[in-house]
Amino acid sequence: MKNYTYQKLIPDHAELWRILRLKGVRDFPLGFLVTPQEAESADNDRCREILSSGTYRGVFTGQELVGFCGYHRQTLSRICHRAEVGPFYVAPPHQGQGAASQMMQGVIQDAEADGLAQLELFVDTENTRALAFYERHGFTRCATHRDSVRVDGTSRDDYFMVRRL
Ligand SMILES: CC(C)(COP(=O)(O)OP(=O)(O)OC[C@H]1O[C@@H](n2cnc3c(N)ncnc32)[C@H](O)[C@@H]1OP(=O)(O)O)[C@@H](O)C(=O)NCCC(=O)NCCS
Repeated sequence: MKNYTYQKLIPDHAELWRILRLKGVRDFPLGFLVTPQEAESADNDRCREILSSGTYRGVFTGQELVGFCGYHRQTLSRICHRAEVGPFYVAPPHQGQGAASQMMQGVIQDAEADGLAQLELFVDTENTRALAFYERHGFTRCATHRDSVRVDGTSRDDYFMVRRL
């Protein structure tokens, strides 16, 4: 097991994040909504802008960013007890090594510190590795979202998963 650290991503992480995101989007199309073309079109300035929202978290080994996830809190008063997690990605050499677990534990702690009641996410019904990972971390399948995403014109289904805090 390597030593991983979890932290909020800031604009200065933009270059590391842009490169890792592009790799993830190209290698794991089922793990992202954004297409490779859309990810490629985001230059460093756009990535700085995205990260300035404070809605991304990362996992590092030393100075190397090896994974990241979105943590998007709802803002309207009737739904501000909820946040959506995603995308959620760890680079292949660090999968199965504890990096993903460290990042998920970090997000859960952030959500608890923010006083939220539940975390939510969508995952492709055939992304078996991600499903096993989320279930191990306490998420349960609540519904199937049919025709949720179209990947190169092919319709795909997602599970909607929730973890109570
Ligand atoms: C999803 C992801 C973050 C999980 O992190 P990870 O480090 O690989 O997770 P772990 O190895 O700790 O756990 C994965 C589980 O799937 C199992 N697994 C491994 N390979 C598998 C496979 N090919 N099919 C099904 N299960 C698999 C592991 O044994 C483990 O099971 P367990 O929880 O019962 O021990 C990571 O694989 C990833 O970044 N995938 C690509 C992007 C992606 O699909 N993200 C999810 C988008 S919703």
